[in-house]
Amino acid sequence: MYRTHTCGELRISDVGKEVKLSGWVQSPRDFGGMTFIDLRDRYGITQLVFNMDDDAVLCEQARKLGREFVVSVTGMVRERSNKNPNRATGDIEIEVQAMDVLNPSKVPPFTIEDDTDGGDDLRMKYRYLDLRRSPVQRNIIFRSNLALETRKYLAGQGFLEIETPFLIKSTPEGARDFVVPSRMNPGQFYALPQSPQTFKQILMVSGFDRYFQIVKCFRDEDLRADRQPEFTQIDCEMAFITQEEILNTFEGLTKYLFKTILGLDFQDFPRMSYDEAMRRFGSDKPDLRFGMEFNELNALTQNKGFGVFDSAELVVGIAAPGAAEFTRKQLDELTEWVKRPQIGAKGLVYVRCNTDGTFKSSVDKFFDEAALKGWAEKMGAQPGDMILILAGEEEKTRKQLNELRLEMGRRLGLMKAGDFKPLWVVDFPLLEWDEDTQRFYAMHHPFTSPKKEDVPRMMNGDHETMKNLRADAYDLVINGVEIGGGSIRIHDRGLQEKNFKLLGFTPEEAEAQFGFLMGAFEYGAPPHGGIAFGFDRLCAVMNGQNSIRDFIAFPKNNMGRDMMIDAPSDIHAAQLEELNLELVKEKEKK
Ligand code: AMO
Repeated sequence: MYRTHTCGELRISDVGKEVKLSGWVQSPRDFGGMTFIDLRDRYGITQLVFNMDDDAVLCEQARKLGREFVVSVTGMVRERSNKNPNRATGDIEIEVQAMDVLNPSKVPPFTIEDDTDGGDDLRMKYRYLDLRRSPVQRNIIFRSNLALETRKYLAGQGFLEIETPFLIKSTPEGARDFVVPSRMNPGQFYALPQSPQTFKQILMVSGFDRYFQIVKCFRDEDLRADRQPEFTQIDCEMAFITQEEILNTFEGLTKYLFKTILGLDFQDFPRMSYDEAMRRFGSDKPDLRFGMEFNELNALTQNKGFGVFDSAELVVGIAAPGAAEFTRKQLDELTEWVKRPQIGAKGLVYVRCNTDGTFKSSVDKFFDEAALKGWAEKMGAQPGDMILILAGEEEKTRKQLNELRLEMGRRLGLMKAGDFKPLWVVDFPLLEWDEDTQRFYAMHHPFTSPKKEDVPRMMNGDHETMKNLRADAYDLVINGVEIGGGSIRIHDRGLQEKNFKLLGFTPEEAEAQFGFLMGAFEYGAPPHGGIAFGFDRLCAVMNGQNSIRDFIAFPKNNMGRDMMIDAPSDIHAAQLEELNLELVKEKEKK
């Protein structure tokens, strides 16, 4: 037996017990006559004491232990004279009587402590060491609990966990596919699923009624803090269901998870239409932890001789609470910030709402005190606030002001950790017109149903009509992060064919790619719909973190590389040959 207890378990009530512990040497400390060692496992840290007077050989052995050696010790639990209130085991220590060194360790390339000295790349290369650090372990344990509670809740609601294949045919969800060549079918490829979308719909046609899966999805897209090429979804689908019931079920899941894992209670989640979210926040995923809502100032700013406003499609601003104290230097820096190519604004107009009730703006030349007062009233700006205004083309300006609003939220410390503001965004447009490629894209995905009342317009309307179709599509947003999205699906072949046509598929292409789904619709497909939560994102948001990487045991870096196993990598010529990739090139030529 390697251990009678874990390193996080022993308390003052265990004093006098003979115990055996196994773990990693965290930090050996040598005080001449005595050597102390912190022994660590995933449950905690226990202090070991070796006494020169009791056993000189053993003490000598302990002195030679290096960091991360794996040892097993037997000894007596005793009360510590120098207690450590910051540690669960801090009242006791083990007076060691015997020790086995189970495995030595090279000196680790960074310290295995909460605040490590290791940089990102190094920690990713030695992920097995990084995973020993307790903040990382806590995240992985959190994730495990979250998955367990999710399964409990959904099983309790009658959902069945059903696996769907990873080697499939491309399912467009807006990203590129990862593809896998097939050896047995020369020149042909599988695609890894961007989500189990079509399979879960097929399961509804098969009558499974309530499906879920905690499932890996694969998307070849540009990576960011909240995006990984392979990530996990809590993926669900329900039949004979309305949007209302889906929202209620998954609001129930979210509330359950916050309650059981974090002990937090929520009121019912507010809902906002896509249009309203764009108007009030310039974003379909507004962070509601703070206000700073958009206010349009076109009517109050025109024909006063300020060309920038006069020529703008939209003049829109926010009132940053308490930011009137910003210095000129800070404002200049903020102006440079909005002018960066990533934001792309041409400039920034500000109005300082002084605490004495006066105003000072960067456009005093064109607008007198009374005009500025009018703006402040329209915006509900208080003395002490700073009004920040952007102007330009409508869509772009809203996006830019959204970025500025978030930045001000950060700078003013309004994104408080531990504050959670969930929101359902509903009534998304069905299609999005892209000027550059001159085509429609599905706002959610091609299987999303238009609202019932919009079906006749979709079947018979002209091009402009298609831009205004609404979908039964919804997102769950928490603190400005899109946690999940879903929709009621099309379950009628004719409507699905029409949607593919609008999305630029020829009938032959639609048949080749999705004939199986449209075929299934002809054999008694029930009305159905569903949703998927980004599981990694949910973990991160619940912990007040931005990066999902910290909640994935073996994440990829920004270049999509696994630094530990060094993938992707070359493959042997023989492997390549077997895959008949040459055939693909020949096919292309033909
Ligand atoms: P969607 O594409 O909106 O919907 O994805 C659902 C949720 O998955 C998360 N997510 C990601 N998380 C990490 N890395 C990524 N690269 C990534 N991409 C998406 C997000 C997102 O809200 N099949 C539909 C769901 C449905 O209609 O039922 C789908 O996949 O949190």
